[in-house]
Amino acid sequence: MIPQAVLNEWYPVAMIAMVGPWPGRQTMLLGSDIAVFLDAGEIVVKGAEGQRLAVCLAYGHVWACPGTPAHPLFPIPEADQPGRRLVDCGVVRVKCSPLRAVENFLDIAHFPFVHTDVLGAEPHTEVGRYEVQIREDSDEVWATKVHFYQPQAAKSAAGGIVTEYMYRVAAPTASVLYKTCPNRPDEWDVIAIFVQPLTEELCEVWPWMALFDDVTPQADLIQFQQMIFLQDRSILENQIPRLLPLDPGKEIPTQADLTSIAYRRWLKRKGLTYGAQMVAA
Ligand SMILES: [Fe+2]
Repeated sequence: MIPQAVLNEWYPVAMIAMVGPWPGRQTMLLGSDIAVFLDAGEIVVKGAEGQRLAVCLAYGHVWACPGTPAHPLFPIPEADQPGRRLVDCGVVRVKCSPLRAVENFLDIAHFPFVHTDVLGAEPHTEVGRYEVQIREDSDEVWATKVHFYQPQAAKSAAGGIVTEYMYRVAAPTASVLYKTCPNRPDEWDVIAIFVQPLTEELCEVWPWMALFDDVTPQADLIQFQQMIFLQDRSILENQIPRLLPLDPGKEIPTQADLTSIAYRRWLKRKGLTYGAQMVAA
């Protein structure tokens, strides 16, 4: 049985630009077949029994809720900010828990080892002190004041810089990252991942960006993100256990894992256990 709290959340199920008429995109959500298709100009998401799922369109993607939406989809105000380029980066299918895909996105410590010479490099492997909170007003997990040395922080970065990051978990399978914008020091680049839980051990990851970058060709931006996520995929597909443990003590945390501890605690408190390994009764 899937917990009602899980069913009442929003999940990405398609890129708006890619949705066509029936049969449209035949895919899965939380272990059930769904179809995403255009019907008389309207995007419809139908379940295996023919029922219509609640739908909203935002950030280049179609979002569906299999239950009764507990709240509106989370805001990303930067999506409406003039001058930003909104970039859909396609999709990467990963054989892992959707929660592990989000947790990996929140992890800074892997940069020098997984994204060597791009997002990190030895000997700059130390993760300094940063702040993590579960914000009660917005019901989100935030990590702020994260600093990290990066050889090439973005496609538009000319050389190594210390990048400042903020991470935000806005939904159980969606995370937004804010990072130093190489072109505009007073603004943040926004990079998000929207994770579609196909099953508890299989997901599709949709990276999406809102950048101040008028120069880099779209194809190069997409290729850069795809390269990063393909590097992550090989790590994610080898993690054991496959489900994300939510019991404290199952995996030994370090200073670098403060964000993931908060994420797990938040999931557990909200009963968002799809893709998670719960304590044995
Ligand atoms: Fe990564």
